[in-house]
Amino acid sequence: MDKAYLKAIENAAAYLKNKGVKKPEIGLILGSGLGELADEATNSVAIPYEDIPGFPVSTVEGHAGKLVYGSLGGRKVLAMQGRFHFYEGYGVKEVTFPVRIMKALGVTSLVVTNAAGGVNETFTPGDLMIITDHINLTGDNPLLGPNNSEMGPRFTDMSVAYDKDYQVVVEKVAEKHGIPVQKGVYLGLTGPTYETPAEVRMVRTLGGDAVGMSTVPEVIVARHAGLRVAGVSCITNYAAGMQETLNHDEVVEVTTRVRDSFKTLVKEVITQL
Ligand code: HPA
Repeated sequence: MDKAYLKAIENAAAYLKNKGVKKPEIGLILGSGLGELADEATNSVAIPYEDIPGFPVSTVEGHAGKLVYGSLGGRKVLAMQGRFHFYEGYGVKEVTFPVRIMKALGVTSLVVTNAAGGVNETFTPGDLMIITDHINLTGDNPLLGPNNSEMGPRFTDMSVAYDKDYQVVVEKVAEKHGIPVQKGVYLGLTGPTYETPAEVRMVRTLGGDAVGMSTVPEVIVARHAGLRVAGVSCITNYAAGMQETLNHDEVVEVTTRVRDSFKTLVKEVITQL
């Protein structure tokens, strides 16, 4: 991590503090079509990404592109309404920059959410999946390069990337609200193509239950920074080869359909982290 990167983290954190971001406890990364949850934060300030020094600017449809700070579920949260993706042309260090800022501002837990294709044959579009683990098949890693030991260890332990206690919290909250949830392994690829049917068979063989184009870099950095992580995927479609064709409209449509249960789930989970 070079000096310029560290300085950029400091600058962005100072800018956000100045905007009123005070001691956030929980970071929230809201994926495709799931950003609405941040609108429920009270006493909130919303800061467009383009205003934050050093922040990349999101380009994908369905991603609002702002950081929302406020109270949600009785906790101080800092939510990303829309995230950065490797496929947009950003490097993984840029994609994970906001996680570094969260840490710098005092966040200790991170909730990551995403839209993903269902690879496990028992999954149905509309299911929510507790992420129990991930497989990094992006061919990249945000921790490549010199390590700054003040930011985290050279060799980060990924044995429990997704906190076990948090998994139990999500499961219990889902049960309480009668929201059916699956559990599984998220396999991350770069996109932006959806997979071929042969790739989906590969993902299944490798142990992936869901496949997507995000989350893995952010969780790697979160673990490096010592944050505890909870992850929830919204299964938006059968992965390629398991249904006729795939398209982004369907992804957005399904996230919209499950939005209410997703919001209920994540909001109450936040209370209990
Ligand atoms: N593949 C990859 N990413 C996705 C998918 C998929 O099928 N659905 C939503 N995001």
